[in-house]
Amino acid sequence: MVDQLKGIKRTDYCGEMRRKDIGREVTLLGWVDSRRDFGALIFVDIRDRSGMTQVVFNPEISEEAHGTAKQLRDEYVIGVVGKVVARGKSAVTTRLKTGEIEVLASRLFIFNICKTTPFTLSQAEDATEDKRMKYRYLELRRPRLQRNFHLRHKLTLITRNFMTREGFIEVETPFLTKSTPEGARDYLVPSRLYPGFFYALPQSPQLFKQILMIAGFDRYFQIVKCFRDEDLRRDRQPEFTQIDIEMSFIQPDDLFEVVQRLMAEIFALVDKKVTLPFPRIPYQEAMERFGTDKPDLRYSMELHDLTDLLKDSPFQRFAEVITAAGGIRAIMVPQGSVRYSRKDIDGLNSLVRGWGAEGLVTIRFMTDEVRSPLVKHLGEEKCRQIGKELGAKEGDLVIIVAGDYDVITESLGALRSHIAEEQKMFDPEALAFAWIVDFPLFEWNEREGRYHSCHHPFTSPREEDMPYLKSDPPKVMARAYDLVLNGSEIGGGSIRIHRIELQREIFKILGLDKEEVERRFGFFLQALEYGAPPHGGIALGLDRIAMILVGESSIREVIAFPKTTSAQCLLTDSPSPVPEEQLKELFIRVKKPETS
Ligand code: AMO
Repeated sequence: MVDQLKGIKRTDYCGEMRRKDIGREVTLLGWVDSRRDFGALIFVDIRDRSGMTQVVFNPEISEEAHGTAKQLRDEYVIGVVGKVVARGKSAVTTRLKTGEIEVLASRLFIFNICKTTPFTLSQAEDATEDKRMKYRYLELRRPRLQRNFHLRHKLTLITRNFMTREGFIEVETPFLTKSTPEGARDYLVPSRLYPGFFYALPQSPQLFKQILMIAGFDRYFQIVKCFRDEDLRRDRQPEFTQIDIEMSFIQPDDLFEVVQRLMAEIFALVDKKVTLPFPRIPYQEAMERFGTDKPDLRYSMELHDLTDLLKDSPFQRFAEVITAAGGIRAIMVPQGSVRYSRKDIDGLNSLVRGWGAEGLVTIRFMTDEVRSPLVKHLGEEKCRQIGKELGAKEGDLVIIVAGDYDVITESLGALRSHIAEEQKMFDPEALAFAWIVDFPLFEWNEREGRYHSCHHPFTSPREEDMPYLKSDPPKVMARAYDLVLNGSEIGGGSIRIHRIELQREIFKILGLDKEEVERRFGFFLQALEYGAPPHGGIALGLDRIAMILVGESSIREVIAFPKTTSAQCLLTDSPSPVPEEQLKELFIRVKKPETS
């Protein structure tokens, strides 16, 4: 038998009662989090979005409520009327925010029952990911996720208020549109009215926001969904949210200043102070020092170059690498000789190989000796010299990788963050922001035999590099910037090209022929001809910011209904086949992939 809600009204949220409420009669509505039946007394933790309260059913207060409480099971939906009382001294707990009080129930209503859940909510971490995704509504009931979404809501609210105060207006741009080149595959939507024609879901509102500048809006922002069909990772989803920003008549500094203050307001939500201004690191320097363009600056362990020091090396492999114009680079792990056994080093070696390097070699700096396979080839003195170069002290470990410069730099960069995470070498509460600046405008794509834009084709080259555009494209630097926080790229943007001749020239360097440019971007080029102001902007990854704000390591924990790593929604079971009729209407015939 279930009760009707009828006139029962909540007086308080479960997690909000404190000592000051003692003596009040309250009505709580929520879910049974757990039940402990001691015969005479039954204890139930009732939970709603604010937290939990312990409810006590005592037959001396109400025989009827006590009797009904016997039927309660986890996740039943209930209403409790009762009096707030102080807990006995020994029962006070810090486990709950309401740990100083409990509610002595006089009435109990069961509004709905619940099947045995496929996993226990408090132990959801142990359940398989498939189960958690399929029953996402159960996982979302967990206090941790509830908190995440409350914070995410505040993050978007603060952003809207901040941007509005700064004179930006939010303008919505279309979802059914044309492809924007952000480097991923498009999600396509077939048109019913135009057989064989497709819309693309936007990878970003890039061209629309530029057109809004041409339309004279001056300061635009939008909290907007973007869609990218790319391989998924911890910090990537096929649909995600950007805080998209564009401003007219600006230099990068004007934009940096606004974004920095926005970040300070956002992180004040969790009482964290943000130090302004953020440091700026040129792309090349970031690669050299950290082996990545999104360095985590909460710890040091920088990369060092040993190529010069080892240039006349008697060790054949090093000599070969140097002759082949490669490099020898190293990091120093403080107390790494103590932290890592030989077996652990084998593990690190496999990781580095997985990232494409040949392998690594180590030097352990012990109390009176230096232990390394290199001693035999280079001598102890040279090994000590290497140690000195990296500032190694007793107990430290130097890890060396030799080979193709880019490969070893990137593998050491990845190893640096792996070790720092594994050895907990930084304060997880710290915030380390940085602007990465001076990106190259182009990168060479070996497979396609042509240049690609490092950011996107609408990014302006640096004025002083214009002369190299035709003669030496790799030398041209972009007026682009990324915002990095704790090793995560949380934003990217640039000053745009606002003159049509330059935009055409960039398309040419990118190897796009006239027809293709016209077909894909004709509408935009036309707009550039009607008084486009100098402008620039950025897009911030809202999900990634939310992830760091709430202290999670995957953006799935801040997206209510995320996709799995294989891009499926297990809750709704999509993507899914559609009836033949619907395909017919769209003039689509599906050719099943051939099975081998
Ligand atoms: P960009 O492609 O760098 O720039 O994207 C901006 C920011 O969006 C976030 N992001 C993602 N977050 C989750 N899942 C994804 N798949 C994903 N892809 C990107 C990142 C990234 O820094 N139009 C340009 C911006 C501009 O030039 O103004 C753009 O979209 O945090």
